Amino acid sequence: MPFPYPYSRIAQAMRPSPIRELFALTQRPGMISFAGGLPDPAIFPVERFADCADALRKWGSTALQYGASEGYRPLIDWLAERMSRQLRTPTAAAQLIVGSGSQQLLDMLARLLLDPGDVVLVESPTYPGALHTLRNAGARFMLVPSDRDGVVVELLPEMVDRCRRETGRPPKLFYTVVNFSNPSGATLSLSRRQSLAAMLPELGVPVLEDDPYGELRWEGEPLPSLYSLAGGAGVVYASSFSKILAPGARVAWAVGEAPLIRRMVLAKQGIDLCTSMVAQVLVAEYCNRGHLDAHLGAIRRHYAVKAAAMSAALQTSLSGLATWENPQGGFFFWLHLPGRDAQQIFHRAIEAKVAFLPGAAFYPHAGETLGPCDDGRERLRLCFTFAQPAKIDEGCRRLAAVLAATEPPPPGDRRDDPRVRS
Ligand SMILES: Cc1ncc(COP(=O)(O)O)c(C=O)c1O
Repeated sequence: MPFPYPYSRIAQAMRPSPIRELFALTQRPGMISFAGGLPDPAIFPVERFADCADALRKWGSTALQYGASEGYRPLIDWLAERMSRQLRTPTAAAQLIVGSGSQQLLDMLARLLLDPGDVVLVESPTYPGALHTLRNAGARFMLVPSDRDGVVVELLPEMVDRCRRETGRPPKLFYTVVNFSNPSGATLSLSRRQSLAAMLPELGVPVLEDDPYGELRWEGEPLPSLYSLAGGAGVVYASSFSKILAPGARVAWAVGEAPLIRRMVLAKQGIDLCTSMVAQVLVAEYCNRGHLDAHLGAIRRHYAVKAAAMSAALQTSLSGLATWENPQGGFFFWLHLPGRDAQQIFHRAIEAKVAFLPGAAFYPHAGETLGPCDDGRERLRLCFTFAQPAKIDEGCRRLAAVLAATEPPPPGDRRDDPRVRS
């Protein structure tokens, strides 16, 4: 029986997250899943993390109590020191907040910056969780095209002008994942980072630099963050322990200008009071014992092997059926299937017991955008981190067999499947 009372307009516009929805399908026996962006559980530092649990004997009365909305102070202090080095900008405790996952940090920022109907610039394609949260805040989207060097930043001034002309206001936020983007795996080049940092004051749009994958580079040189190139002005930098330690911890952080962080703290007070203190105490202990850097080395090596396994498997099985770039870090391969519809292939792939995420999940719907939109039909995302190497090869063979058996549909005869749209 439906709930008999009216939902808010925001609730009426909510859609199921394609990734969360697919989770059940990917759990079927025998399924090889390249769908969810899940870390490899085989590399979770279970023993070291369990050892850190003895900190609960020392800090138990703190861990079991409510904590500050800003975050657990020893964790904030550790992050302040690390961020000062990494972002090449002195970072004070007042510029940091800990969130229950970077998803929550994004949600808080959306609540603080957006009124319903406001426009957000998002790189295209983009992370569906960001679209979901921004949509919940009533956003409309302008899609900033991207290529192998990340977003085409040269287009931004004209896009901002267009937004002003058509809505009377500038976009309220620019959301971008500059390192190993989800789903494209692309990294914003140094020259584009420099241009973007230089144009920010003129653009007048704050940026959320979402960086959960930056530490997961196994090839090439790390590039300076946008935050550091902009000297912190107008940029919020967010990162997370989800991909580098454990998503189950639900601990992430943001760095920004102190007044904005203070507002985020106020928003958090109304959302969940504080991030789990038990989780923060364990993560702080893990970091303060110096385990994170050793672990990062291990996961970079581990994921380099898995990415190479997927690259080889794709080369063997999908040459001629799809094109892709080999990533230098992160979690994903982003495939282009010229003339084929990834949503149609998705159902056949599930029958063949291989799962991926169709490209449509990474674009807003038509009607939600200002300016051109995209449907991502000829695209799909493969996550290489979760499946084991032998399964990676088998999964790519299954996918190739499904693709080879699927005639490219005649133009104008393409079906939509709402289940796999964001
Ligand atoms: C780009 C991006 N941002 C944020 C998140 C969410 O991370 P968290 O687990 O910290 O909420 C993800 C998760 O896949 C992601 O890919």
